[in-house]
Amino acid sequence: MRKLAAALAVSLAPVFAFAAYPDRPIKLIVPWAAGGDTDVIYRTFAPLMQKHLGGTIVIANVGGASASADVHLRDGQSFRVSAEQPGQDAPPACTNVGPAPPAPTPTPAAPTPTPTQSPVPSPSPGPSPSPAPTPSPAPSPSPAPSPSPQPQPTELVPDVVGQTFEAAKARLQSRGFAVNRRDVESEGAAGIVVVQDPGANEIAAPGSTVTLSVSKGMTVDGATVYTSTGCGSCHTFSAAGSTGTVGPNLDTSTKTTPAVEAQVRNGSGAMPAYADELSDEEIAAVAAYVVQNRTG
Ligand code: HEC
Repeated sequence: MRKLAAALAVSLAPVFAFAAYPDRPIKLIVPWAAGGDTDVIYRTFAPLMQKHLGGTIVIANVGGASASADVHLRDGQSFRVSAEQPGQDAPPACTNVGPAPPAPTPTPAAPTPTPTQSPVPSPSPGPSPSPAPTPSPAPSPSPAPSPSPQPQPTELVPDVVGQTFEAAKARLQSRGFAVNRRDVESEGAAGIVVVQDPGANEIAAPGSTVTLSVSKGMTVDGATVYTSTGCGSCHTFSAAGSTGTVGPNLDTSTKTTPAVEAQVRNGSGAMPAYADELSDEEIAAVAAYVVQNRTG
């Protein structure tokens, strides 16, 4: 305590060497809350300083004064006290021989463990998500630094478009992804993955979900194909109300479904081939329509 008083007196002495100084109350700015360690110390010494220096000393607790210290220091009447080490740019700094105050901006120079605070080395006020470059040396005794701020491991999503859903699912699961299935209208064959999200070679977290859009297969209406293709212009078929006579009456046809498909795909005689004009699904649909609706 005596040492601190001496330090204060010494560091303030040059300022007070002017005649008739101080002519106004001197303000000691304590950049910590009233009642804090530093505040208590300076309130203890204020009367002593008054006795030595004359005049009146007022203590002002100014939060965050560290940042704005210069403003206060320019008037020659206000002095910021601090717990900083001598040599720092903070006149008139006094070496704080007591416990370190709960500094709002902890300096890396004062990591002294205080009896009132837990010996957590990290000065960060919260669970900051950033991998903060803590000033603490590597061999930290704290068990706390969790691996959470480490960068998330990532995985490339394989390309599964065009595969069957089962194959795509197996491939994704082998890479650790979860799979979500969406059945969609598509011209692709039924059961085939037509869209994946995230897309091929995108980066995703392991264990995340990849949504696969799976084709329901084209839902083709055979009656519509029959009418729109013009089968009725050559064929009589009661279900369609057609009365064409170029080709055989389809109500009395006895061909199997595969045979009808072949007839439509390849044609024969006066009947054109429809392999180019109609899709496989459309050929299958119109064949099934004919076979199922013929009256015999
Ligand atoms: C231009 C006239 C024409 C059109 C259009 C046509 N066909 Fe034919 N179709 C024929 C003729 C002619 C035959 C007989 C061919 C033969 O004898 O080799 C035939 C045969 C068939 C047969 C075989 C019948 C049997 O039992 O022997 C089926 C089934 C058939 N057509 C279905 C269709 C369907 C379905 C369509 C529409 C996608 C269609 N046809 C369009 C003329 C046509």
